[in-house]
Amino acid sequence: MTLIRFHVENWRCVEKLDLELSHINILIGPNSSGKSSLAHAAYILAKAPMVRDVRELLRGLYGLNVEFIARLGCGGPCYPVVLEAEGEPGRVELRVRSSTELEVSGRLWSSAYMMPSQRIDYVRLLQLLQSVVRREELETVSGRTVVSFVYSLAQMFIACLPSLPSIFLDDLMKIMGSQRAVSEVARFKDVGSLVLELIPLLSMTSYKYVDPYTSIELSATAAPDGVIDLGLIESFLSKAETGSLIAVEEPESHKHPLKLVELVEFMARRAVEGKLTLVVTTHSDLILHSLAKLVETGVIKPEDVTVYYLERSSEKPWTTARRIHVYEDGTFEEIPHVIEVISRVF
Ligand SMILES: Nc1ncnc2c1ncn2[C@@H]1O[C@H](COP(=O)(O)OP(=O)(O)O)[C@@H](O)[C@H]1O
Ligand SMILES: [Mg+2]
Repeated sequence: MTLIRFHVENWRCVEKLDLELSHINILIGPNSSGKSSLAHAAYILAKAPMVRDVRELLRGLYGLNVEFIARLGCGGPCYPVVLEAEGEPGRVELRVRSSTELEVSGRLWSSAYMMPSQRIDYVRLLQLLQSVVRREELETVSGRTVVSFVYSLAQMFIACLPSLPSIFLDDLMKIMGSQRAVSEVARFKDVGSLVLELIPLLSMTSYKYVDPYTSIELSATAAPDGVIDLGLIESFLSKAETGSLIAVEEPESHKHPLKLVELVEFMARRAVEGKLTLVVTTHSDLILHSLAKLVETGVIKPEDVTVYYLERSSEKPWTTARRIHVYEDGTFEEIPHVIEVISRVF
């Protein structure tokens, strides 16, 4: 693996950082240290060459214009905002010179996907909408009433979820094969283009869940969150094109530690075999222990993994990143303040 050089400047809480990316990249650190900001930066940079309007992409991610994504550290936004990555097979750059001047050049990743930390809320929301729209009694009222009811419900839920990255829906639809329920779209076609997007989403969430102990097939609404999340992560990792970048936020959410260990092995194998760049944010040192074990047993090589410990303080208010080395023998450098950050429970 040739490492990718990743440069970030004036992006949210990052003043200037240079990181190296491999197949599996772990960002660990306290809340507000900049883990998500860096994962989002990598995702935006990978996705930027594939979209018509990068501003729209940023609005989809944060619901904010570019002047609020630029680091607010110069009595206002600091420019230029620069995201840049270079490695095999190329180079990509996103440069924002002012709130109106934005430029993208080159390309490095074949595709990009993001699994934000609110992904389960989103899936549950879709399931709720689906169950509402499918209720027999609603089938008898006019399409317009059903749709406006579902929409007001969706708006209400979306308003309750903080900074809900709507671009997750696009990625989810792409990974699930964008099956459009043509007949349903036709039925509601007089109510506007947004509805054309909503209906396929509703049908898309109708996948089945198999209970592990009885093999009974149940609707996904009956599945525990941990199982849904495992399914989501596994779908993204198995279906993503070779050479994609995938940002996965906090894969430990909703999972039993043993399941997390299994998931980390799956993620690591898939990342290497699919030449993926995984950017994983976490609060869990179990992910590090699992990766180190995989290095020790030869499943992955030490150079397939990078780990960064991120930190901010009042003396150094902008994100600092410290590389934590993983060694062949399955050990890794000590994480600073591990007790405070990860395991201070009592
Ligand atoms: N434009 C901005 N300028 C400066 N700081 C920002 C900007 N946008 C967000 N932040 C700060 O960046 C921090 C990083 O958040 P985030 O990356 O979500 O952290 P983590 O995922 O590690 O919990 C937040 O504390 C937020 O206050
Ligand atoms: Mg975060």
